[in-house]
Amino acid sequence: MEKNIEVIFGKFFGYKRNRFYVEDVPVRDIVEKWKTPCYIYSKNYLIYQIKKFKNSFSRINSLICYSVKANSNINILKIMKENGLGADVVSEGELRRTLLAGFSPSKIVFAGVGKSEEEIEFGIKNDIFCFNVENEEEINLIENLGRKYKKEILCNLRLNLDIDIDTHHYVKTSRKETKFGLDLQTASKIIKRKYKYAKIKGFHLHLGSQIKEISPYIKAIEKVREFSKNINFFPEIIDIGGGFGIPYSVKDKSLDIEKFGERICREVEKLKVKLLILEPGRFIVGNTAIVVSKVLYVKRRKEKNFVIIDAGMNDLIRPAFYGSYHLILPEKKSKGKEMKADIVGPICESGDFLGKDVKVPVDIKRGDLIIIGNAGAYCFSMSSNYNSRRRPCEILVDGKKEIEIRKREEFEDLWKGEI
Ligand SMILES: Cc1ncc(COP(=O)(O)O)c(C=O)c1O
Repeated sequence: MEKNIEVIFGKFFGYKRNRFYVEDVPVRDIVEKWKTPCYIYSKNYLIYQIKKFKNSFSRINSLICYSVKANSNINILKIMKENGLGADVVSEGELRRTLLAGFSPSKIVFAGVGKSEEEIEFGIKNDIFCFNVENEEEINLIENLGRKYKKEILCNLRLNLDIDIDTHHYVKTSRKETKFGLDLQTASKIIKRKYKYAKIKGFHLHLGSQIKEISPYIKAIEKVREFSKNINFFPEIIDIGGGFGIPYSVKDKSLDIEKFGERICREVEKLKVKLLILEPGRFIVGNTAIVVSKVLYVKRRKEKNFVIIDAGMNDLIRPAFYGSYHLILPEKKSKGKEMKADIVGPICESGDFLGKDVKVPVDIKRGDLIIIGNAGAYCFSMSSNYNSRRRPCEILVDGKKEIEIRKREEFEDLWKGEI
């Protein structure tokens, strides 16, 4: 497999004899059977990422809760569970998925800025480990439900530490201007109040997503240390959330997660907490999947070339939503001339693009296959039925075997509940 794309794909995806493979299976064999567009995951890459993450934080007592929002396919969740991870959920739907996948409730944390009373009650009835609380009214609700069920409920307060990070505006979640977390004054007021059932044990401080620098985490931990001292409350638990970045382009730098983990553990040890919780999503799944799509048409214009493919923003919205870059490659490697083209979908929006000015073979034609990389996190889980398109199938490859882990939707699924 090629050296430069290994930054993204490790040893799990790449070209063999000029055709693109996932582990030991040629992509074109998969799409011959399951058609396009189609998500394909590498099971062994997933396991590799889980192990790497776990090892990086092994010097401290930790609970690693995979952030289900990144990818919530039940079969993917089962792999997380089988490899020892807990789960971080943000809705009753996600909680139900994790329970179906077999996670122990004692390893589930419930986060989210707007949990409904029904969702909180469902979590309490299922004895989940804890709630990450984001406002005063929420903790009052938890207290009342605790009284109703005669149960103590473990809570960590999500703090808004007003820390800036170098990432996309939409995924910064710890600035004052964002809706997330409690300001320190309110957090201190809540702590002083002493609840009977809502047991506050620590702090949650998710900062944002796709973070490649350690300094915001260190700054956040320092702020927590100072805050704890000021209010004379010393947390037993600290949850630093997720946000650990991955490379999207071959030129991107990779995060050295071992070094990162080592440093974070050292800082957290100074807080003398009993448990560190981590909520990685993207780091674990982000680069472990691709979307395979077929070229429908090639439009050659003086100003710009367009390759129109059968995957659109409903299948993978990140480029349209955040302007994100995804690595795009031809399934069949060619040594011939290249041209630049925008890779666009069939949807009636000018924002429906998967890549801009992508180098493609000059003779690219109808029927050729295109590989879109970095498709494991916030891709299928953000997919929709816009333009009444069926969401694609998902296939999991394990060595020489492949299995369908989600069927392509049927047309009838599109109008379910309407007629
Ligand atoms: C509270 C919380 N935890 C964890 C995550 C996972 O982030 P990432 O996928 O960047 O690791 C998110 C993402 O938005 C989040 O909001």
